[in-house]
Amino acid sequence: MTPTGSAGDAADSPYVLNAGTTADILLVDDERVMRRYHDAHDIATEAALMRHVAAHGFPVPTLFSAEGADLVMERLHGPTLLQALAAGELNLHDGAEIMMDLHRQLHAIPAPKGSPEGDVVVHLDLQPANILLSESHGPALVDWANARTGPADLDLALSAVILGEVAADAGGDYSRAARAMLVAFLAITEGDPLAQLDEAIAARLSDPALIPGEEALVQPAAELVRRYAPTDLIIGARVPPRD
Ligand SMILES: Nc1ncnc2c1ncn2[C@@H]1O[C@H](COP(=O)(O)OP(=O)(O)O)[C@@H](O)[C@H]1O
Ligand SMILES: [Mg+2]
Repeated sequence: MTPTGSAGDAADSPYVLNAGTTADILLVDDERVMRRYHDAHDIATEAALMRHVAAHGFPVPTLFSAEGADLVMERLHGPTLLQALAAGELNLHDGAEIMMDLHRQLHAIPAPKGSPEGDVVVHLDLQPANILLSESHGPALVDWANARTGPADLDLALSAVILGEVAADAGGDYSRAARAMLVAFLAITEGDPLAQLDEAIAARLSDPALIPGEEALVQPAAELVRRYAPTDLIIGARVPPRD
């Protein structure tokens, strides 16, 4: 059986795995899912970068086809990192390690030919809801909607700001956990999550997938990133001055 109906009624269909802001994830069969954008959408970059990183051994679902507004890809079995953290199956430090390891692997891949000097593939939404703990492949990264080439530090800054948004949402279920995870992530970050922080803020504010209310959390999130980023200056400032 295959998904039926237009994207408009997708949320009512039994084949919808996830109804997102800009796209739905539909179950095709046991081996395949379809990412279907609600509106006409250029998926060329998303598809090309998924294939590029897969060819370099990065853990990403295999892409089977990309046509119109639909990407058909391998279905991964297993919880998201967010679900595993919420269920207490993993602790926040392990979660932060998984995030940092995916950054490390992704940014070690040679950029596609013609990319500006120094740029790498950046995912720009590398966070627990987009990491699937696949039974067969281990942690894998989905949701390449925002991916492009750019500085690795921009990717780090976005992960930090996204964790910061959850932390800054004081009434939210995961606020305290997200703050602890942000601190853990920043403590093990290889790179400079502050170097591209302004660009990361701008990217978040212009992300079409932002949910209502999230926009107001972006600046407070950036403040948390500045507060907890382990720079020499901050470490120095914490030490009481000698007489
Ligand atoms: N290849 C896949 N295999 C299995 N589940 C998937 C796959 N891709 C996405 N999902 C599920 O759908 C959810 C949303 O997918 P995602 O690509 O992040 O879309 P969104 O744009 O809505 O954030 C994921 O958190 C995961 O639970
Ligand atoms: Mg997602």
